Amino acid sequence: MIDYEMLCRQAGEIIGIDPWYVPALSNVSALLMDTLPDLNWIGFYLLHGSGLVVGPFQGKPACVHIPVGKGVCGTCIAEDRMINVPDVHRFPGHIACDSASNSEIVIPLHHEGNCVALLDVDSPVYGRFSETDEAGMKKVAGVIEEMVVWKER
Ligand code: SME
Repeated sequence: MIDYEMLCRQAGEIIGIDPWYVPALSNVSALLMDTLPDLNWIGFYLLHGSGLVVGPFQGKPACVHIPVGKGVCGTCIAEDRMINVPDVHRFPGHIACDSASNSEIVIPLHHEGNCVALLDVDSPVYGRFSETDEAGMKKVAGVIEEMVVWKER
């Protein structure tokens, strides 16, 4: 059983060291990969212009650009909602970056009311993400939304 409260505290501590999105999201992706069992890829896609571009992540090299509305990630941004996909092979338009992925959850991230990025978590285990994971990931997303600075510097 994952202690998401503890995970949120650790994420907050890491982000607090330097809340700029580059170090913050890099270390949060490492924290999640290290803490959550049965993952093969975890990371962030950032909304840039009219599409998504890959951000800090852990795992195999991934798709660099994803159009809004395409795949699980593009749908998450287009519809501004968390999507939990128990079997990615049954999701129309799923983009397979790592052939090991069988389930996936994506959570949109907001700044000043707008989607700016998303958290994407992939697992080789079908149906990996429970309602507890959904609620826990939303809390982690809340910490990121509250603390991360998205501006360039
Ligand atoms: N599967 C995603 C693409 C990103 S990778 O999983 C890292 C999608 O369908 O949007």
